[in-house]
Amino acid sequence: MTFSRKRVGVLISGRGSNMRSLVEAARAENFPAEIALVLSNVADAGGLDFAQKQGIATAVVDHKLFGDREGFERAMNETLVAHGVEIVCLAGFMRLLTPWFVEQWRGRMLNIHPALLPSFRGLHTHARALEEGVKIHGATVHFVVPELDAGPIVVQAAVPVLDGDTPEALGARVLAQEHRIYPLALKLVASGAARIEGARVRVEGEPEAPDALLWPRA
Ligand code: GAR
Repeated sequence: MTFSRKRVGVLISGRGSNMRSLVEAARAENFPAEIALVLSNVADAGGLDFAQKQGIATAVVDHKLFGDREGFERAMNETLVAHGVEIVCLAGFMRLLTPWFVEQWRGRMLNIHPALLPSFRGLHTHARALEEGVKIHGATVHFVVPELDAGPIVVQAAVPVLDGDTPEALGARVLAQEHRIYPLALKLVASGAARIEGARVRVEGEPEAPDALLWPRA
């Protein structure tokens, strides 16, 4: 049986630790996707250096050089298409996307968000989780739809909130989980095991569900 890996374009704006976790996962021989391009809207994004050193194609499309959002997105889209990208992964990509761009990649674009969506959409999620006093926080990988930080959820990881947590301490524990769930979500989507069915993503061969997560434990 021939095995063809899906070509993935990862969009970053900064340090790119999630991109790195995808690159590392895609080194496995049986991983169903390869990282074909790392694209940044920020010329000195830390993650670009790492990608170049790995021999991965990189590109910069600087939003500041475009008069409008549409021109910027058309340039990004052309770059993605030119590299034969089939799946887009937003990984700390800090630009809002227009419905036009989202439509180009509907059902083929994932995002990672540092909260258990639909709670805490937007920015400063760890500080807001602490302010609200939630006991369980986490991270989500979801398909991108025009509405910000919404769309069918592929994988979530839950992280307990501890007494004395700071946004930084909690954020570090969430980030460690982000690095686990993004490769998993990409694997499920690229292999075709995860499929959108209405508002929900169904995953083929899902193991039996564990008991509920309780925190603090009784
Ligand atoms: C990650 O925590 C990611 O979830 C978050 O930005 C960080 C990027 O870190 N994304 C968002 O907040 C998107 N709304 P990274 O560059 O090291 O992957």
